[in-house]
Amino acid sequence: MASLMHYFSPEIVFNMHPSRVSIASTPTLVTKFYQHILALVFAVDEINDNPRILPNVTLGFHIYDSYTDSKMTYRTTMDLLFKSHHFIPNYKCGTQENLIGVIGGFSSDTSSRMADILGLFKIPQISYGSFQPAVNYQTKSSSFYRMVPREDFQYRGIVQLLLHFGWKWVGLIAQDDEGGEHFLEVIESMLSKSGICSEFTDIVPTNARYSKGLYQMFLKRVGNLPGFLASKANAVIVSGESAPVTWLANTVVMIHAYQLKYPLYKLSAAKVWITTAQIDFKFFKVQMVTGLSTRMFHGTLSFTIHTKEIQDFYDFLRNVNPSWADGDGFISDFWAESFRCSASDSGISKFFRSACTEEEMLESLATPFFEMRMTGHSYSIYNAVHALAHALHAWYLVRANNRRTEAWDGLSSWNVEPWQLHSFLHQISFNNSAGDLIALNEHGELAAGFDVTNVITFPNNSYIRMKVGMLDPQKPPGKELTIDEDSPLEWHRGLAQVSNKETCRRCPEDQYPNKAKDQCIPKTSNFLAFDDILTIVSTSSALLFSLITALVLGIFIKHRDTAIVKANNRSLTYILLVSLLLCFLCSLLFIGMPNEATCLLRQTAFGTIFSVALSSILAKTISVVLAFMATKPGSRMRKWLGQKLAYSIVLFSSIIQVGICAIWLATSPPKPDVDMDSMAEEIVLLCNEGSATMLYCVLGYMGFLAIVSFTVAFLARKLPDSFNEAKFITFSMLVFCSVWLSFVPTYLSTRGKHMVAVEIFSILSSSAGLLSCIFTPKCYIILLRPELNNKEQLLGERIGTIVFKNLSPLSSSTAQSPIHVHLKC
Ligand SMILES: *[C@@H]1O[C@H](CO)[C@@H](O)[C@H](O)[C@H]1NC(C)=O
Ligand SMILES: *[C@@H]1O[C@H](CO)[C@@H](O)[C@H](O)[C@H]1NC(C)=O
Ligand SMILES: *[C@@H]1O[C@H](CO)[C@@H](O)[C@H](O)[C@H]1NC(C)=O
Repeated sequence: MASLMHYFSPEIVFNMHPSRVSIASTPTLVTKFYQHILALVFAVDEINDNPRILPNVTLGFHIYDSYTDSKMTYRTTMDLLFKSHHFIPNYKCGTQENLIGVIGGFSSDTSSRMADILGLFKIPQISYGSFQPAVNYQTKSSSFYRMVPREDFQYRGIVQLLLHFGWKWVGLIAQDDEGGEHFLEVIESMLSKSGICSEFTDIVPTNARYSKGLYQMFLKRVGNLPGFLASKANAVIVSGESAPVTWLANTVVMIHAYQLKYPLYKLSAAKVWITTAQIDFKFFKVQMVTGLSTRMFHGTLSFTIHTKEIQDFYDFLRNVNPSWADGDGFISDFWAESFRCSASDSGISKFFRSACTEEEMLESLATPFFEMRMTGHSYSIYNAVHALAHALHAWYLVRANNRRTEAWDGLSSWNVEPWQLHSFLHQISFNNSAGDLIALNEHGELAAGFDVTNVITFPNNSYIRMKVGMLDPQKPPGKELTIDEDSPLEWHRGLAQVSNKETCRRCPEDQYPNKAKDQCIPKTSNFLAFDDILTIVSTSSALLFSLITALVLGIFIKHRDTAIVKANNRSLTYILLVSLLLCFLCSLLFIGMPNEATCLLRQTAFGTIFSVALSSILAKTISVVLAFMATKPGSRMRKWLGQKLAYSIVLFSSIIQVGICAIWLATSPPKPDVDMDSMAEEIVLLCNEGSATMLYCVLGYMGFLAIVSFTVAFLARKLPDSFNEAKFITFSMLVFCSVWLSFVPTYLSTRGKHMVAVEIFSILSSSAGLLSCIFTPKCYIILLRPELNNKEQLLGERIGTIVFKNLSPLSSSTAQSPIHVHLKC
C-alpha cells in the first residue's frame, strides 16, 4: 500500500488566557479547525473509494502537530522524514510508508519553517492558508505550492470594494507581525493612490494576554484607546489571523462593562468590518463566560477563500462521533472541549466532567466553534489532497505507458520518489467534484479568486456567510470585483444604514488639516516680519554695526593726517569702511515681506558691496607686497606703486561681480515667490533666486576674492613693513571664509525665514569680522596711544602685536638698508 503521509497543523494553542481560564497551561483545541482534519479524511476516503483514480492503491496519512512553535515545527518535520523509533537525522530507519507529499500549514510561519526542511529534500508541500508572501517561497523552495490565491490580490479587491460603496474614510487593524507590516505597507499606498484616507491604524499584539482582569486592562487602555472606538470611519479593514477577532471582541466586552464609568467617551464599535481571507471568526468555549459575542461582527464584509459545497461532506460530518475512528487522536479532546463532557473512560477529564450522553451532535455547535458548511481552508485541503492524488495518478500513467503495462498492480512495482511528482503538480489541472477547476499558476499558487461574503449573526452566536460577490483574477484590471446587486446586504445594527459616504479630500495648497483631520486651517505665512524677534535682533545689530563703522570712518577722517592712517593707503581705507557700512545696511534688505525690488536687490547688492570690500582688502594686501618689492634696488615696480594700481584692482574686481549680477538680472532675475510645500502649516514667502547657479557664481566669486586676499596676505604677513596690515588681513580673511563656508550647509538645511536669518547672520558676522580684525588695532593706537601715532614711533617700536621694524623712512632711504618701506608721508 502506498501511503500518503500528511503533515498537518491543527493549531493547538497554549496559554491564550492564562488568568481568566482555569485550564491555564493545558493546550486548548481550536475546535473550529477540527473541520480541517475532517476535510482531509473525507478527501482521502473519497479517493480511495473512487475506482477511476488510483485504483488498487490506498492512500493514507499522518497528522503532525506544529504546536504553532518554530522549534516544534522543525522537530516534527524531521520526525516525519526520519523517525522510526530512534531519531537520526538524514537516515531513514524503518519507515515503511511511501511519502509522496505534505499538506500544510495554516499560518505563514509554520509553512515557511516546514518549507525550510522539505525544500531540501524536494518533497512537494502544499499550503492551505492564505497569507502575505513576505518571503517568496517559490524562490526559496521550488517544491512549495499553495492551494490558495495570492493574498495581495485581495488587497486590490478591498480597494475596489471601498470605491464601490464610496467609502473614502477608513480605519486599519493589523496584527503585530511581519504579515501585518506587509499588509499596512501595501494597503496604505493603494488607498492613497485611490484617494481613500485611513483615519487610524490599530496594531494588535499576536499573543494578547489579558492577565490582570478586564477592569485593570481597560483602565490601562483608557489612556490609549484603540483607534477604532473613537473613530468616525465606519469602514474598518481587519487583517491577520485570529488575534484581531479576539482582540476586537474583548475590547467590545469591556466597553459594554465600563461605559457607565466613562460616560463622556462616545465609543462605538458599530462598524462595517472588512476582513481578509485568513480571518476566521472562532472563539474558545471558555471565552464565552466573559460575554464574548459575535454580534459586533454582524454585517461584516469578508473576503474568503473560495469554497463550494461538496456533496456528501455535510452527511459525512453528521456521522462523526467519538466512536467513529480509532486512529483519530483529536476527537476525544474535540468532543470534550466542544460539549464539555467526557467521551472516553480514561483520562483526567473524566473526573471533572460528566460522561457524554451520545446525543451530542456537531450540528448543535454554534459556528464560532464548528461549522457544518465547508470552510475555505477545508476546501483548500480537500483540493490539495486531490491535487496530490491526481499528480500521482498522472505519474503512474506515464510510467505504465513506458513499460507498456496497464495494470495498477499495487505497491510492488511502485517506486515513487516525492520529487518525481513536481512536474505533474506544476501542470495540474482538473475539475473537482464541485465542478471547480483546480489549476496552479506559474508561481505554484491556485489560479483562482476570492469570494466576498456578508456575515449575518444570530443571537445564539451562530453566523452564516452569504456570498455577495467575488474577486476574479480573469477580469480586466480594476474590474476584478463584482458585487451581486440583487443580494440585499446586512449592515451592523448600530449603523442607521451605510451612511458612510463621507469623503476625504486633500486640503487646498494654502491650507492644512487640523489634528482631528476634519477641517482645513489656512496656513500662516512665513517670512521675517518686522515684529519678529529675529528681525529685531538682526536689525538692531545691523544698525549698531553701521554706527560703529561710521564712527571708525569719522575717527579716520578726523585723524587723516596721522601716520597710521596715512601708512596704509588712506583712500582704500575709506572705500573699505564705506563698503563695510553698506554691507551692514544691505542686510536690512532681507527683512520684511519679499517684494519685486528687495528680491532684485538682495543678493546682487550684497554680492557687489562685498566684492568692493574684498577687492579693496586685496588691493591693500597687494600694495604691501609691492611696497616691499619696490624698495629693492633697481626695481622698476616703483612706478606701479601708488593709488592707481590700487584703484584699478578695486575697480576691476568689482566690475566682474557687477557683470555677473547683470547677467543674472538679465537672464533669470530673482522674484517674489511662495513655497506651499516645504512646511506643513506655513506658506513660505521667499525670493525665488531665479537661477541657483548665478547665486553660487556670486558667492563663488566672493570666495575667490577672499581666498586670493587670504593667500597674498598670508605670504606677506611676515614682510617687515612699517605697519604691516597683512597679518590682520590674514586673520580677517580666515574669519570671513569660515563664516561663509559654514553658511552653505546651514543655508541649505533651513527653511523659510530661518534661511533668511542665516544669511543675515552670515553677512553681519563676516562684515563685523573684517571690521574688527582690520580696524581695532588701528583705532587702539589712534584713540588710546596717540603718542605712538607718529612716524618715529611707528618705525621704532613694537606695540602689542603690531610689529614695527626698524625701517628707515622713505626720505632717508639708503642702499644699505634693503628693508625699507614706502610710507608716502
Ligand atoms: C442559531 O439561530 C439560528 C437562527 O435562529 C438558527 O438557524 C441556527 O440553527 C441556530 N444555531 C444553533 C447552533 O443553535
Ligand atoms: C488490481 O490488482 C490486481 C492484482 O494485482 C489486478 O489483478 C487488477 O487488474 C488490478 N486492478 C486494476 C484496475 O488495475
Ligand atoms: C472542467 O469542466 C469544464 C466544464 O465545466 C470542461 O469544459 C473542462 O474540460 C473540464 N476540465 C477538465 C480538466 O476536465
